[in-house]
Amino acid sequence: MSGNNIEWTKLADEKSFDDKPEQLIKVKRDDILVVKDDDGFHAINNRCPHLGLALNLGGCNRDDKTVHCKFHSSDFSYKTGEVKEWLNVKGFEKFMMWLFSKFDPDAKKMMSMEPTPVETFDTKVEDDHVWVGINQDY
Ligand code: FES
Repeated sequence: MSGNNIEWTKLADEKSFDDKPEQLIKVKRDDILVVKDDDGFHAINNRCPHLGLALNLGGCNRDDKTVHCKFHSSDFSYKTGEVKEWLNVKGFEKFMMWLFSKFDPDAKKMMSMEPTPVETFDTKVEDDHVWVGINQDY
C-alpha cells in the first residue's frame, strides 16, 4: 500500500527480529503484526477482517508467506493481504456453525461474509530499526 499521506512510526530494533521474527507492536489504536522473512519485513493489521480477532494467535507460515486465523480457519498473505483460504472450517466445527446459523441470523451472516483481505502496511529499515508506514487517508 502506498500513498502520499503516510505517517512513519519507528517500531523495533531490526536485530530483535533475528530471535523473534514475528512481533506484535501497538501503534496508536492498531496492533501491527510485523513479520521478518527472506524477503524482508512485512506489516499487517493484527485484526482478522472476518470478525476482528487476533491473527497472531494462529501464527505465520514463513515458507508460504501466510498468516493463519485460528478462529475460523482463514489464511491471508502477510505480504499482500490477499485471502488464501476463507472460513475453511471442517468436521465437527463446520457442523456446529451450520447448526448455529439455522437458529441465529447473526451467526448465519457471520459465516456468509464475503472474503475480505487483511490490511497491509509499508515497512522500511532506517537507523537500524524497522518502521511502519500507515496511510492517514484511511
Ligand atoms: S475471526 Fe478470523 S476467520 Fe473468523
